[in-house]
Amino acid sequence: MSGGRSRERCTPCCALVIFGAGGDLAKRLITPALYNLAKQDQLPERFAIVGIDHNEKTDDEWRNGLHDFLEQLVKSGKGEFEAQNIDEDVWGRLAKTMSYIAGDFLEPDTYARLRDHLQERDRKEDLEGHAVFYLAAADRFFGPIVDALGKAGLADEENGWRRVVIEKPFGHDLPSAKALNARILKVLREDQIYRIDHFLGKETVQNIMALRFTNGLFEPIWNRDRIDHVQITVAESIGIGTRGKFYEQTGALRDMVPNHLFQLVAMTAMEPPTSFDADEIRTKKAEVFKAVHPLSPDAAVSGQYGPGEIGGKKVAGYREEPNVAKDSPVETYVALRLMIDNWRWAGVPFYLRTGKRLPDRWTEIAIHFKHAPLALFRDTPVGTLGPDWLILQIQPDEGIRLRFNAKRPGTEMHLESVAMDFKYADWFKQAPAVGYETLLYDCFAGDQTLFQRADQVEAAWAVVQPVLDNWAKVRPKDFPNYAAGSAGPACADELVQRDGRAWRPIR
Ligand SMILES: NC(=O)c1ccc[n+]([C@@H]2O[C@H](COP(=O)([O-])OP(=O)(O)OC[C@H]3O[C@@H](n4cnc5c(N)ncnc54)[C@H](OP(=O)(O)O)[C@@H]3O)[C@@H](O)[C@H]2O)c1
Repeated sequence: MSGGRSRERCTPCCALVIFGAGGDLAKRLITPALYNLAKQDQLPERFAIVGIDHNEKTDDEWRNGLHDFLEQLVKSGKGEFEAQNIDEDVWGRLAKTMSYIAGDFLEPDTYARLRDHLQERDRKEDLEGHAVFYLAAADRFFGPIVDALGKAGLADEENGWRRVVIEKPFGHDLPSAKALNARILKVLREDQIYRIDHFLGKETVQNIMALRFTNGLFEPIWNRDRIDHVQITVAESIGIGTRGKFYEQTGALRDMVPNHLFQLVAMTAMEPPTSFDADEIRTKKAEVFKAVHPLSPDAAVSGQYGPGEIGGKKVAGYREEPNVAKDSPVETYVALRLMIDNWRWAGVPFYLRTGKRLPDRWTEIAIHFKHAPLALFRDTPVGTLGPDWLILQIQPDEGIRLRFNAKRPGTEMHLESVAMDFKYADWFKQAPAVGYETLLYDCFAGDQTLFQRADQVEAAWAVVQPVLDNWAKVRPKDFPNYAAGSAGPACADELVQRDGRAWRPIR
């Protein structure tokens, strides 16, 4: 986080080995991020990309396939890759660094060939033995790949550093997350492990720390004396599309809460770190999860979308999606009420909600400040007084909005809620980014600040484990309980209404 992203901070040389080189993540997010870094001249000067996947391909077929995919992304204008065109010089420089190995992740021979291949590329490109292994593969391969790297001597750091990037999901519950940590920590030290949560690659998420800790204005009011409650919303308008098989095993809680939503909770609720040291920041974040009051059954509600309408188009219900059971009990919506038992937050509820097929794609953190004493306005129409909100808009239209009350011009004292808006796009000229640039760059630089440590992951799973246990025992009877395009199920409204509060509208 410190000191900006300069060529000086990035390592001068390393190899990047991508396991799952032909997969969706590699094509849609990692390659565009590497292209963007190349365009901004922020890749290591001496660099080699090695793709591994079980599909037989030559180096050229792999490179050309990625190039065609990037072109499609540009033409369709869909997805996170916002480039207007592909700069062929930049692509040419990047493509020159790429080579491909066809091999099965579960075959020891793959790792023997990888070792020889890396030695060869090291000799040619003088990479000083440094390598990042990016596991862009299904999570069932995480343990076996790390074991195999260890057996093949590829995790040894005698001749250069070795780092392993592990994608989400990191476990499916607390026991599996602990087991995976224990397994990979037999091969790797914690400082070699980069557990990714791509929400942390977003500028606006990183900016929460800048907002809180570099402005004298906010931190003094960032506590239970001034804040009534916090609402965190991660709404998606898309359904599960072709990911039915995956989603049936996962659900909204596992997919979104202990990772993405909890990153937003941690950024909002953490104590000020004493330095920008990665471990100091990660300790402060883990402390937030450790202070969460154990969740009672009524602090979590779930929903599943039925058929409905979004943007004027009729859309199917979850149970009608491909590869979904006709009587599926899997939740596509979850809302939680968290209480953080520490001096800063005691008594301040954090309401979290996330769901699919909601009216809009919308991610925000909304801080609701307590009302000022109203005695002064006793004889004015204070009934119309809106609350003070500070809204950190994560996506889309990244920015910060402050809502407060002002006197409407005129002879009488009429108050109105007004807003001050800051939009990133208006203020900063931003280079297009898919969100993985920072994470890759930090990994090359050896900065673990934005990656999750073992204790953070386990503490986050520990918070949601009672809910998972409870939901495993009771099959929901009322699913589907919200229409696609609506703001979610009635039980989510009741969750906040019980405390005399209401959700903010989505958008
Ligand atoms: N895609 C995303 O947007 C996204 C976002 C966040 C996190 N992630 C995580 O990133 C990881 C990768 O996701 P993905 O969507 O890219 O998955 P994917 O599309 O299934 O990619 C995995 C690649 O590995 C190949 N593969 C499968 N089994 C193999 C084996 N035994 N040996 C060698 N290669 C094998 C697959 O080939 P075949 O397809 O031919 O089997 C495929 O090319 C997952 O852990 C996922 O949870 C993905």
